[in-house]
Amino acid sequence: MIGVFDSGLGGLTVLKSFLRVLPDYNYIYLGDSARAPYGGRSQDTIYRYTKEAVDFLFAQGCELIIIGCNSASAQALKKIQQEYLPKKYPGKNVLGVIRPLIEEITKDENIKRVGVIGTRATIESDAYKIELKKLNPDLEIFQTSAPLLVPLIEESWSKQPETKKILKKYLRPLKTKQVQVLIPACTHYPILFKEIKKIMTKRCLVLNSGEIIAQSLKDYLARHLEYKISPVKNVNVNFFTTDDTERFRAMAKKFLDVDVEKIEKVCL
Ligand code: DGL
Repeated sequence: MIGVFDSGLGGLTVLKSFLRVLPDYNYIYLGDSARAPYGGRSQDTIYRYTKEAVDFLFAQGCELIIIGCNSASAQALKKIQQEYLPKKYPGKNVLGVIRPLIEEITKDENIKRVGVIGTRATIESDAYKIELKKLNPDLEIFQTSAPLLVPLIEESWSKQPETKKILKKYLRPLKTKQVQVLIPACTHYPILFKEIKKIMTKRCLVLNSGEIIAQSLKDYLARHLEYKISPVKNVNVNFFTTDDTERFRAMAKKFLDVDVEKIEKVCL
């Protein structure tokens, strides 16, 4: 069973890609909506919350966990992998969303200028910048935090002219720097994918983050048979939220494009 964790609902865009690329697996999705958004929180808090989510998902029987949330991948994953797992869950693993995206960029040697847009927590961590520089020190990386986008998307304002204006304003500095590729480093941005592409024009490649993360998980599963995660005939996808299940259901329709039947409320 594969666990997918997010601060709330946005990670459903990641799960959607998993279900497309790896449809024959069992999943558990946990959204910590009661404490979302994580994007404006401190590293200590994000680490503590993420640790609790990891405990919950392993207790449910997950063999592997994917942190779909960029803010948690940026602020907590390293410490989870280096300190928490070896002590508490030796032999198990937790993956994030940063690695697949940066590997995709460094595959193309012609890319020199990279843009990153994300929440405050993601951008202030410099996680993308640090990891990209490790793989290619010659890259120039330009970053913008966009704290207004998550609430606008959750309020179903993604098609509103105000949102387009705000998005344009956030992207302008990256456009001015003539970035060749843009990382939409937040679970919610696939909802604005078309708009982002339009603003950045054909001169910039906007990464299809969900697809890249899902393909990378597919490769990972093929290389790591030790987790014994195999395709199943009758697929089960279970949903857990730390907040109201009805709101989760309504939003899941938007982010995941399916009617989610069973959702359980949990306390972490
Ligand atoms: N899931 C978060 C991320 O990808 C966005 C929402 C939040 O700030 O919690 O960074």
